[in-house]
Amino acid sequence: MQEKIILTGDRPTGRLHLGHYVGTLKKRVELQDDPRYKRFVFIADLQALTDNARNPQIVRENVVEVALDYLAAGLVPEKTTLFVQSQIPELAELTMYYLNLVTVERLQRNPTVKAEIKQKKEMSGEAGVPAGFLTYPVSQAADITAFDADLVPVGEDQVPVLEQTREIVRTFNGLYGEVLKEPAAMLPDRKACCRLPGVDGAAKMSKSLGNAIYLADDEAAVSQKIMQVYTDPLHIKVTDPGHLKGNVMFVYLDAFCRNEHFPAFLPDYKNLDELKDHYKRGGLGDVKVKRFLNNILQAELSPVRERRKYYEARKDEVYRILYEGSQKARAAAAAVLDRVRKAIGVNYF
Ligand code: TRP
Repeated sequence: MQEKIILTGDRPTGRLHLGHYVGTLKKRVELQDDPRYKRFVFIADLQALTDNARNPQIVRENVVEVALDYLAAGLVPEKTTLFVQSQIPELAELTMYYLNLVTVERLQRNPTVKAEIKQKKEMSGEAGVPAGFLTYPVSQAADITAFDADLVPVGEDQVPVLEQTREIVRTFNGLYGEVLKEPAAMLPDRKACCRLPGVDGAAKMSKSLGNAIYLADDEAAVSQKIMQVYTDPLHIKVTDPGHLKGNVMFVYLDAFCRNEHFPAFLPDYKNLDELKDHYKRGGLGDVKVKRFLNNILQAELSPVRERRKYYEARKDEVYRILYEGSQKARAAAAAVLDRVRKAIGVNYF
C-alpha cells in the first residue's frame, strides 16, 4: 500500500495555544507513529506576511516560537518533516499559476476570509485589504498540492479554505490533465476540539482577542487563567442550578477530560456526565470544577513545557531542524512543479 501524505501548517503570528493543541497539534503527534502516512508540518511565514508585511519582525520572531511549540507538543523531526514556507520558492511559482484559475468574486465569497477581513477592519479601522490576504487560499492550495497531500489536519474554520484548494485542483486537472491530487480535510474527533472558546467565553480562542492559554504559559499563568475562566453567570450560589451552555469550564473538560482523570483528581465522581449532572442540579461550586480542570491541564501541559524549555536553550538546533526539513520539502515540491510546468507547457528548454 502506498503511503498517504499528511500536510498541515500554521501562521507564525504568535505562540500556539490550547486551541491549536486540541484542534490539530495533538492529532499530528498521534499520527506520527502510523506507518500508513508520510508527514509534513510547516510554518506558513508567507501567509503570515499577507497581513503583517509592515511588521515582518513579528513573523520572523514567531517562526522560531512556532517551531518550539511544535517540538514541545511532541513532533519529532525524524518522523515529521518540519519546514518553513518561504524557503520553498516553488510554492510562490505554483501560486502564480493557480491565481489564474480562480475569480476575485469567488475569493471574496470565502466565509473564513470574509470573517477575518471583518475582524481586521473592526480592530484596525483600516479600509483596504492586501491583495495577498484575499488570495491566501490560493497560496494555501499551492502549499497543499506541491506535496501531493492527501489529508490536511485543520480546524473547522479552515474547511472553506480547503474547499478552495479542491476547486483549484479540479479546474487545473480539467484544463491540463490529471496532475494534481485532491486533498481532504482531517477534522478533530471530539466536537469540543473543533473550535475551542477563549477563557473569556468568546467563540474562539485567539491571540488577537487576548483570551488564550499558551503552550508556553507556565504553571502559574495556566492556573490563573483557569480560575478566571468564563462559567455560568446565573450560577451565583453553590446551591444554584448551573448551566452548561456557553460554560467554558465544561467545554474545556469536554475537550481534555478522560475517565482516568476522575480517580486521579476527583474520585467523588465516575465520569464527566456525573459531574455535569451534579452541576446542573446545583450544589457543585465552580471552584471545585476549576481545580479539577486545572489539574487535568497541568498534567497535559507539563511534559510540553519541559520539552519547550529543552529546545529554548538550544535554538541553533531548532534552526538546523527547520533548515534540513526545508531542504527535504523543497526536493518534494520541485518534483511536483516539474509535472505542473510540463502540463501547462511552460517547460521550454
Ligand atoms: N491557514 C492556516 C492557518 O490559518 C495555515 C496554513 C497555510 C495551512 N497553508 C496551509 C494549513 C496548508 C494547512 C495546509 O493557520
